[in-house]
Amino acid sequence: MVAMETSVDIVNDSRTYSLVFKSSGGQDQDQDQMGRSSKDKRDMYYRLAKEEGWRARSAFKLLQLDEEFQLFHGVHRAVDLCAAPGSWSQVLSRKLMGPDVTILAVDLQAMAPLPGVIQIQGDITKVSTAEQIVGHFAGRPADLVVCDGAPDVTGLHDIDEYIQAQLLLAALNITTHVLNKGGTFVAKIFRGKDVTLLYSQLRLFFPDIACAKPRSSRNSSIEAFVVCRGYNPPEGYVPDMANPLLDHSYDLEQNQLEGPARLIAPFLACGDLSAFDADRTYPLQLTPGAGYHYVSPLQPPICPPYQEACARRRTQRLARPPGGPTATTSSFPLATPDPRGRAGRGPAGAGSKSIVGGAASLDT
Ligand SMILES: C[S@@+](CC[C@H](N)C(=O)[O-])C[C@H]1O[C@@H](n2cnc3c(N)ncnc32)[C@H](O)[C@@H]1O
Repeated sequence: MVAMETSVDIVNDSRTYSLVFKSSGGQDQDQDQMGRSSKDKRDMYYRLAKEEGWRARSAFKLLQLDEEFQLFHGVHRAVDLCAAPGSWSQVLSRKLMGPDVTILAVDLQAMAPLPGVIQIQGDITKVSTAEQIVGHFAGRPADLVVCDGAPDVTGLHDIDEYIQAQLLLAALNITTHVLNKGGTFVAKIFRGKDVTLLYSQLRLFFPDIACAKPRSSRNSSIEAFVVCRGYNPPEGYVPDMANPLLDHSYDLEQNQLEGPARLIAPFLACGDLSAFDADRTYPLQLTPGAGYHYVSPLQPPICPPYQEACARRRTQRLARPPGGPTATTSSFPLATPDPRGRAGRGPAGAGSKSIVGGAASLDT
């Protein structure tokens, strides 16, 4: 195996940085010269998926969930949320039997057509997509909703878990519009620290909830699947598209709260009407015959974000604006409070706004 190393020099701010790219020659060689077999060797489900004609190894997760929970028993109408590239839809179309089978697949990404599967391309957290889905099941509810949705993980666990939970709740909200009483909802869930809150939310709609980890889901992954059976919404529950989780439009949604949920806080104007107007500018109040006496701020900011800009300005190292003059004190009239305690003197009224402009054009 030959490890590859490539380096690129980048010159920035008169300094040279070397970026070194390393690649494992072994894997590339495996893939390029040995028929792209390395992933086949490492991942049994990946290999099996290709051998059995599934679009993704995820197919085995749904198949194994079905082995445990008999998910497809008596199911004729199903929704596959977050379906691309489509292996769960393939499983549904192979497993659901009968003349009136309906399978609706939805994903942000385009998906190659699958015989017998209706497709919608859209974001399940958007009301417009949710409405299209609901439209397909008007008057004839679904028996099963599955959701294998996963956001692009950031690696920041709290954020990833939060976004995954939002996706699950968006799927649940759609489910409350389309699922038959007694129906089943299956969704990918991240077993993070707040997972019990999700279970409680799901429990409001389903009496029977289990968390399952199929063999084909890697143990190293936080993912599992909630299997929620016996859909039974609370007495009097009316599914509502204006769920704040779906589409944040303050005026249309939150602002229409009624009864005890709606709070209007009193709005009070304070201060004498003859006091200075904060939105106006006023001429300097100069004593006749004397110059303007500048008074330093009592406490300049400690470690402000523009501190580096001030330091660079002192050593003439501010960036040169494209095509413009060197950024010196004269071209960047920053009225900067000096981090050492002396306030800089910009033109009257320049204040901190010009600092932001100057700092933004810094070469980093
Ligand atoms: C793990 S893949 C699904 C694999 C699929 N079950 C299969 O077997 O082929 C996760 C999918 O979630 C989709 N997704 C993520 N966020 C979404 C959203 N807000 N709306 C719709 N789809 C979403 C992604 O586009 C991606 O295709």
